[in-house]
Amino acid sequence: MTFPRLPRLFLTLIVAFLAGCSKQPSSPAGAAAAPAKIKLGYLVKQPEEPWFQYEWKGADAAAAKYGFELIKIAVPDGEKTLAAIDSLAANGAQGFVICTPDVRLGPAIVAKARAAGLKVVTVDDRFLGADGNFLTEVPYLGLSATKIGRMSGVTLAAEMQRRGWAAADTAACIVTFEELATCRERTDGIIAALQESGFPADRIFKTPQRTTDIPGGLDAANALLAQKSGFKHWLVAGMNDSATLGAVRATEGQGYTATNVIGVGIGGMDCLDEFRKPAPTGFHCSILASAPQEGYRTTEMLYFWVKDGTPPPPDTRTEGQPVTRENFERVLKAEGVL
Ligand code: GLA
Repeated sequence: MTFPRLPRLFLTLIVAFLAGCSKQPSSPAGAAAAPAKIKLGYLVKQPEEPWFQYEWKGADAAAAKYGFELIKIAVPDGEKTLAAIDSLAANGAQGFVICTPDVRLGPAIVAKARAAGLKVVTVDDRFLGADGNFLTEVPYLGLSATKIGRMSGVTLAAEMQRRGWAAADTAACIVTFEELATCRERTDGIIAALQESGFPADRIFKTPQRTTDIPGGLDAANALLAQKSGFKHWLVAGMNDSATLGAVRATEGQGYTATNVIGVGIGGMDCLDEFRKPAPTGFHCSILASAPQEGYRTTEMLYFWVKDGTPPPPDTRTEGQPVTRENFERVLKAEGVL
């Protein structure tokens, strides 16, 4: 069978028409393609800490509300952090929130994120530049560290007074992690408030933790208690719940009990099992600073930055409130945590 010779232009049009018909799936004429879903990362240094699990929970709630996809990645060290940024870029993410394993990685993280076109928001631990100053151009959200530290110190002093302890029989064990500004500000706040309450400065002992977990707090307090025996009562505090929990465990190892130890933590998320124990322990109180709220607010800020180009405020701080065995269920329910 032969075909009449058709003009070349006509043939081209037929081929183009057939090609158009074969496209699957076809969209109705004039309809715009659905915009791709926004993808955001949430990178945390210590995924085993309830604090960070609650941040992820809050970020999940923001993802459900705004309809973005959340990619959660554990970044316990520098290598994993840089690999996580590559993987986010490869997955088409547009930005990430990070609590970095090391604040000195800040410039490297920013450079890598910029090269991949990713926006960055920092949470909890603020990036440091090569000169040792905060990288203020990267938006940050974290605790009002000094204020919350002072609340811890005021709580220690008030509970000591309520129990009628003599200052002469009492010492304070403050577990410190001064490498990190947010932690140093918290413990400086504790010490300042204790001194202002009239507690003798020479009875406030700082002891550094090497790792920011319960064993780190335990080792730090054990080292101090071994040198300072003879006190009837101890006030115990640190930069977060884990530091104080470790120190309370150390006092128990030395024979102290709930009646002669007042421990105050910070965070209010890593002490829930402690508060749920059938009998009270030396861990008396924590200053709650909502981790789910941090997760929600940082990802919400990042989402609007990506979607509308609205940059987050440079520095946002969250407030704290005391929680004890008696009120934690009620307060955490009201906060939407439990
Ligand atoms: C630091 C601590 C965490 C938690 C956050 C809260 O990152 O290491 O345990 O306390 O601060 O900001």
